[in-house]
Formats: sequence, C-alpha cells, structure tokens
Amino acid sequence: MSFTLKIFSFILLLFLGCSSQEESICIESPDKNISVKILKQNSDFIYNVNFKGKTIIQDSKVGLMFKNNFEFPTSHNVKKVEKEFHKDTWELPWGEKKVVKNIYNEIIISFIDTNNLEAGKMLFRAYDDGIAFRYQMIDNNKNQDSLIIINELTEFNLSEDAQAWWTPAYNENRYEYLYQKSNVSALDTCHTPLTLKYNDGTHLSIHEASLKNYSSMQLYSNSQKLICDLAPWSNGDKVRLRLPFQSPWRTIIISDDANGLIMSDLMLNCNEPSLVDDASWIKPSKYIGIWWGMIIGKWTWEEGSRHGATNERGIKYIDFASKHGISEVLIEGWAAGWESLFPKDSVVVSFTKSTPDFDMRKVQEYAKSKGVSIQAYHETMASTKNYLAQIDSAFSLLNELGIKNVKIGHVGSKLDKSEFHYGQYGVQYFRDVLQKAFEYKLGINFHEPIKDTGERRTYPNMLTREGSRGMEFNAWSNGNPPNHTLILPFTRMLGSPMDYTPGIFDILYENLDLSNGVEFPLNITVIDSGNNFQNLRYKGSESIWFDKKMERKLNVDNGKMIAHWTIEEYFQPGEWQWGITADHPESSKNNIWLLEAIGKNENLSINVDEEGNVSGFDTLFIPFLDINNNESSITGYAATSLPRVSTTLAKQLALYVIIHSPLQMASDFIENYEKHPEAFEFIKNVPVNWDTTIVLNGEIEKFLTIARKDKNSDNWYIGGITNEESRTLQFDLSFLNEGSYVARIYADGDSADWESNPLDYKIFERVVSKGELVTMKLANGGGQAIELEKIKD
Ligand code: NOJ
Repeated sequence: MSFTLKIFSFILLLFLGCSSQEESICIESPDKNISVKILKQNSDFIYNVNFKGKTIIQDSKVGLMFKNNFEFPTSHNVKKVEKEFHKDTWELPWGEKKVVKNIYNEIIISFIDTNNLEAGKMLFRAYDDGIAFRYQMIDNNKNQDSLIIINELTEFNLSEDAQAWWTPAYNENRYEYLYQKSNVSALDTCHTPLTLKYNDGTHLSIHEASLKNYSSMQLYSNSQKLICDLAPWSNGDKVRLRLPFQSPWRTIIISDDANGLIMSDLMLNCNEPSLVDDASWIKPSKYIGIWWGMIIGKWTWEEGSRHGATNERGIKYIDFASKHGISEVLIEGWAAGWESLFPKDSVVVSFTKSTPDFDMRKVQEYAKSKGVSIQAYHETMASTKNYLAQIDSAFSLLNELGIKNVKIGHVGSKLDKSEFHYGQYGVQYFRDVLQKAFEYKLGINFHEPIKDTGERRTYPNMLTREGSRGMEFNAWSNGNPPNHTLILPFTRMLGSPMDYTPGIFDILYENLDLSNGVEFPLNITVIDSGNNFQNLRYKGSESIWFDKKMERKLNVDNGKMIAHWTIEEYFQPGEWQWGITADHPESSKNNIWLLEAIGKNENLSINVDEEGNVSGFDTLFIPFLDINNNESSITGYAATSLPRVSTTLAKQLALYVIIHSPLQMASDFIENYEKHPEAFEFIKNVPVNWDTTIVLNGEIEKFLTIARKDKNSDNWYIGGITNEESRTLQFDLSFLNEGSYVARIYADGDSADWESNPLDYKIFERVVSKGELVTMKLANGGGQAIELEKIKD
C-alpha cells in the first residue's frame, strides 16, 4: 500500500530581495512532535529543529562551498516551496523486521541564483522518528566541467552541550576504536552515527543516509555546535562531482529515550527502494569458519606448516556445520599469492587460485553434497587495484561453484595506501563492488568497510559488514570491555547489521593449544646494560602476544649492573615477531615497550625452519639509557590485560539476539561447541531473519533487552545483556500471541561473573503466556538468552 499526497504550496519568491527577513518555511512530522524551520539570515540559509515544544537544534547553517568561491544555496533566493505528504509501507526481504512504515512530510525548496537561473533544491523531511535533509544541484550551464567541493557548511547546533558517544576519525584503524564518552564540546573529529543525550533524556543520533558519489561526513565541534567535515581525497579535495548531483541525506534520529534510537527506520526510509522484486537468491545464513584460529594465532592465512585452510580442516568444519544445521562455512586464507596480511610492497593475492593444500572446487562440492556451502573470502589487503582487476573472474568462479555469499576484507589504513576507506574514492569503490556483486547475485559481508548508510534497502545483497571493533579485538590488545556491546546497538548499529562474530565459548582461551605439531626450544635473551629494568615480559606472535615472565640473572661487569634476562620458548617453523615489556620503578614508569625505548619502530623477528634452524634475532641488547637523567624520552603505558573475552558465556548467547546480522557467525573453534552442546543449541536454533523487533528496555553503556520474532515460525527470542554490573531486568510478555510458549532460558549461573567465573551458566524451562512478567538476573558482565517456542494448539 503506498500513496503520496502532494500538496504543492508555492511560496513564490519568498526571500527574493530579502536582507534580514524572519519569514521561515516550516514542516512538521506527521505526529506533530518534530518541526523544522528553514529561514534566510542575511545571505545564509539556516534551519532549526523543535521536539515536543523544545528547541533541540538551534539555528544551524546549511550549504556547500566550491573551489571557485561559489556557494550553494548561500546568496541564492527561494523560487518556490513545495510541500508533500508521503505515506507507504514496504517490506524488507530480510532484516530485523518485515514491514517498514514510511511516513513523512517533505518540503522542497527551489533556489535561483542572482541571474534568476534555477540552481538547485534543498529537501527537508520530517518523520515521527527524526529529520533528514539533502542538497540537489542542477546543471543549468550544461556540460560543465567537474566541480570540486572544498567544504560542506552543514551544522548541527545543539541546544546544550550534550553527552556524546563517539569514535575518532582519520586514524589508522578506520572505524575500529572503543567508544569514548564526553560532552560534545570536548570531542575530537569523529565518525557518524554520533549518538547524543540531552539532560532531559532526549536522544539524538546524527548520521547520513544513501551515501554514494560523495565523501563521508565526519563531525567536529565548536563548543556545542557540530560541524560537517567531509573526508578528503589525498590531494585535499573533498568531493569531485559533475552536475546534476545530489548529496547524501543528513539525518537526525530523535527520540524520547535510547530505545527509540534502535526502533527507528529513518536510515532505511532515506534510501531508494529495492532494485529487485524477487530477492529469493539472497541467502541470510548462519556460519562457522576457519577463522578464529588465525585471529588468535594458532593457524596462518598464508601457506606453511600452520596453514588454516586445508582440505582436511575444510571438510571437518563442513561435517560439523551439516550435523548442526549451519548453512555456511567461511574459509579464510585459501588464496594463492598471500604473502602477508600487511604486505610491504604490491599486493599479488589471487581471487581464483588456491594454495596447493586447498582445493576450493572439491571442498565446495563436498559442502554441497552435505547441504552446506562455503562462504567465500576475498582479502584485498586494501589494494582495490588488484581486486578490481580480478573481480569479474572471481565472482564468475563463485557463481560457477554455487557460492552465494562473500566476505570481502580491506585490511590497511588507506585504500591503495593513499585514500581513506570513507573518502569519495572509498565510498564509490564500495558501491561499485556492491553493484557488481548484485549483478552476479552475490551477498556481501564487507570488512574494513565504508560505514553503513542504509544501502541494504536498495541492494538487499548488502547483507552485513564490520565497521567497528568486533570479537577479533578480544584476541589482541585489551579487548572489548563489557560495556562495548552496550554501546554498539545505540551507535554503530543504528539501522544496520554488523558482522560482530559472537559465540566464543572458551572465554579465557583455556582450551587453546597453540602447538600444531613440531616445535623447537629456543632461549630468548635480553641484556640490560645498567638501566635496572624490572619485571621483564616476553611477548611474541607465536604465543598470541601473551605476556610471559622472563627470568633474571644478574651479572656485574666493571662495576655496572648488567642484567641478563632469559626465557625458554618453543617455536614452530615459521616467521615470528617478538618484543619485551618492562617496568622501571626508579622513574615510576611501567609497561615500557623496550624496543620503543631504544628507538626501534619494528618488532624483532625470528625465523625457524622445518629443521629447527634459527635466523633473525634471539637476543635484545639494551644499552645504558640514563633514564633517571633522561626521563621524558621514555614512555610508560597503562598495563594491558591478558587476552580474553570480557563477558559470561550466557552473554555470548544473548548477543545473537542483540546484534542483528543476516550473516551471523558462531566464531569459536568447533571443539569448544562440542564441549557445551546444550548451550550450543541456542546458537543452532536462533534465526537470522526476523518478523518483528521490540526493544524492551535499554540504556546506553548499561543494559539492553531486545525481543525478536522469527520470520518463519511463531517463536520469539529474547536477549538481555548488562555491562560490568550485575542487575535484574523486568519486562512483560505483552507482545506474545495468545496461547502458551515453552521458554527455554539460557541464564548466568548463580555464581557467574565475567571476570572470575564466566563459564557458569544454567539452562532451564518454564511455560509462559502473553502478558506474564519476566525477571532476568544478569551477572556482572552477563546476559541471558531466551527461546520462546509456541506450543501448538
Ligand atoms: C580483519 C577482519 O575483520 C577479520 O575478520 C579477517 O579475518 C582479517 N582481517 C583477515 O582478513
């Protein structure tokens, strides 16, 4: 059902010749809670937004600035204003809900330049869940040369110095940073969606929709005003375009509370309708993979004795998937020409040829015979040139093999070592790959992606993407703290799925056996020339950078304290990196990375061949650094903790409901699922495609409960999670249909605690019906997952 009511009210020449008029153009949301006013002040155009009688965005500029000193719509005049009411509903082929309501008022303002020529339009929309606006320019000179935008003037002038949850932009790791919380006035240039909270509990999230042929919007603040910052090309241009053109939508989700942010459809509604009526070729799937082994350092992507993607292992994973009704197996690191994930020179990895120990055809044939498929994996290492040169042959091969979904990675801080993933080049590259995949009927899982701006409405093959810190960060660094998954749904995930890859059961990596066969012992030595470093810890890639204490042997040499520190390590054949952390109590500096202290930027590397012959460095010599007289030159760091997952096991299960992704991974080694078959039942049963989603309660960083109804049955699934604090959450089941349901509850055990007892869980059942009150007891860092199975009448 769809209809658009057009009420064209022409407000001709409204501002023509105005200098300081206060006349304004205004639209309201259909429920009248939100209103947007647009007015001209001197030569600038500004807008402001009111929500339930309160100004939430004060006068804020709009406009684009071009290289030739030309601005739009600054200094233009309004020719006419058209108003339109739009109401329809449309269906998602897959997603967190089936039916989306699309109801808004729109205002289209047409501008003329000083020569009375039509220059373009601005569109403003007011929905019940927020507002959106965009720029459109026409080509009235015909065949103009390309234009360059040097700045977008768009502002969001908040009515208070709101609290913001943000990640910094323009850094090495793209979008993969922990969220910081600060007042807007204190934030660094940051990515969107940027989520904000006012003192009265009003929540906003500023983002953009339908980002194509443009560069992405970051935001910086000047006091409580947020200002658009477009990601530049390597030469500083912001956007290169030809007329006619239209910008992405600038969007603000507006809600009384945090839950409303998640329930919003604004992002999807600001994208074009689907390009296909029949989306039956698009296959949302659950998957396992030859993956965690590489992430945690047990296997390698590249060939060698620890190579992960072997025929044998592929078949083992396929058998497991088939046995447990999991439809795909991701097999990473199968490609010939893989030199390293961070190649120094050009990237030569192939997307059609595999390594000698992996036969893609044979393994996929086997998979198909077992009712499973490979999820393909293309790691471009951010070389778009190498990828685009092979993309047709790579996608043809996937069609030939009957592979439906492909994960495409872009590891590297810049595309082709020069352009931001989210600059205009990156935006267009990701769009082109998506379009190409669409032509080949392939579903996409982008890693190191451009951020999501709702394109899955137009391209339903845009299944999922990374674009934030996922599970993998728990194998490195300090991991994701317990509150991380309580920020993601209110920020990165607003309106968009994420390939977070939940489901690690071996939370403390206790079952991790890093040996894969042959290992050779080797002594690593550090010689400290009189600096008196203490508590030396060896860190090596061979042992996933776990800290290992070294032993100290003191020698006195010519009156100087020369300390020898050693550790016996076991190395498998391969190339390994290592370094040392130490404390220096005399100068109160701890966790000093000694390589940095002596001016080395790179880790030491050691090579062990198949016979155990060693080349490279097994000894690190630290000269006298005179730290006490030279303190500032040496940096200490905050302590890092041992790698682990910072949740309880039950919270891992709840994440399958909390984190929506149509490609949803069970990311652990299959052996760890075999150790907890009852808990694994939940992962087997939980759908990836939903009919309805309801946010039952939630507060950013603290707690969240979501209920979702399966698209293909009458069953409901509920996930509740908490941050590091234990808490009890209550809600009622008023959303259920009449009749009874068996509630299968996967809860934190009585003494569960993410830090000290993460594996304590219990599973029990009870019969429930509509309206009943449910109480969830969540441990510190815990969670609960519930499957509600409808009892047949
Ligand atoms: C980072 C991705 O997030 C991860 O999933 C992948 O395995 C590695 N890059 C290698 O491509």
